[in-house]
Amino acid sequence: MSTVVAETTTPSEPTLREGAFGHAKGLSCRECGHAVELGPHYACPECFGPLEIAYDFPQVTREEIEAGPANIWRYKALLPVPSDIEQSPNMEPGFTRLLRANNLGRELGIDNLWVKDDSTNPTNSFKDRVVACALSAATEFHAKVFACPSTGNLANAVAAAGARAGIKTVVFIPSNLEKPKQVNSAVYTDSLIAVNGNYDDVNKLASEIAGEEDGWAFVNVNVRPYYAEGSKTLGYEIAEQLGWRLPDQIVIPVASGSQLTKVDKAFQELIKLGLVEDKPYKVYGAQAEGCSPVSVAYKAGVDAIRPVKPDTIAKSLAIGNPADGIYVLDICRRTGGAVEDITDDQVREAIVLLARTEGIFTETAGGTTVGVLKKLVETGQLDTSLETVVINTGHGLKTLDAVADSVGPAATIDPSYAAFAATGLA
Ligand SMILES: Cc1ncc(COP(=O)(O)O)c(C=O)c1O
Ligand SMILES: [Zn+2]
Repeated sequence: MSTVVAETTTPSEPTLREGAFGHAKGLSCRECGHAVELGPHYACPECFGPLEIAYDFPQVTREEIEAGPANIWRYKALLPVPSDIEQSPNMEPGFTRLLRANNLGRELGIDNLWVKDDSTNPTNSFKDRVVACALSAATEFHAKVFACPSTGNLANAVAAAGARAGIKTVVFIPSNLEKPKQVNSAVYTDSLIAVNGNYDDVNKLASEIAGEEDGWAFVNVNVRPYYAEGSKTLGYEIAEQLGWRLPDQIVIPVASGSQLTKVDKAFQELIKLGLVEDKPYKVYGAQAEGCSPVSVAYKAGVDAIRPVKPDTIAKSLAIGNPADGIYVLDICRRTGGAVEDITDDQVREAIVLLARTEGIFTETAGGTTVGVLKKLVETGQLDTSLETVVINTGHGLKTLDAVADSVGPAATIDPSYAAFAATGLA
């Protein structure tokens, strides 16, 4: 019997498969434009700026996309993934519902409102999109461990996707995270690490481990450029579901800011590819007051973002030093949008408001987004006559405690008609 010794290839010395990254031609520095070869790199060797994927897109038609699967791989020609991506075991996220929100619109005084509901993804947040792209890259780099620092939802998505792909996962979270998010990771992996510190501490630890260990793909650290592209699919889907056109304005929650910048990138790509008509659109960012470094910079009219120590119930948005913060500022200003923040009480109220108007139970991030939408109307920062999309990025069952004290039974009664009639609900 012969023994086969597997050759180990680490992310620092990848052998890339032909077409492994689709039409991606390389990485490009978002600050100085310096070109870098495809690989598990995330910082520019010239200026340490963040890298992103650069493409040579083919001519893609609406018909080709529409003929694709009902998940994010219908847009595979626009993502850094191989053309046979559907064959690999993955969670097949995306193509979530875009709901017309007439009741919420009436409540807020917005004529034409939609909710893009990403809480119906496989692990109940938009993070399944980014993780699917990160998993593809990690696989092509022959990573032996699939890992992330996370504010909760990303940990859920990485742990589930890693389980399905049969790759070892290690996920790191702040130890004060909501219990349901901890359980939602631990059920998929026996390697959930709770760190005594906030997300920014966890992120620093992850960068350190990525530097020490070979073969670890940290989805939002050393494979971040690939991971981030997954958020573009939110933008593609909204345009396709509106009948191949862009909304007039869109409200998006901001933690690292990656999602917001990638939705804008998606809209720009669709325009360039001729898949939608060129038109102006406004992008609005939403933060919770207890972690609002981008909103604070926006309101102060400055370009630099001062990191903060988060203190909010919106834990999934609790990133005090947002990597994409300056790009969020630029997009919101350039498009005529804004960045706004609300209190934790307003977050709670907005969770209940969305649930009671549209039947959608969102987590604190969605409460922040809907609450900010309301504030934007009240403060006259949003034109209520324009078509508006608000993104719900996660499910309320993950942050039950946020509203557990605000809602409950209207009455507790004995099982008799008389007792029910006494409630006044008969
Ligand atoms: C539910 C939810 N919404 C929004 C965000 C913010 O995403 P980003 O870091 O891309 O700004 C997160 C981040 O973890 C999240 O979990
Ligand atoms: Zn650079």
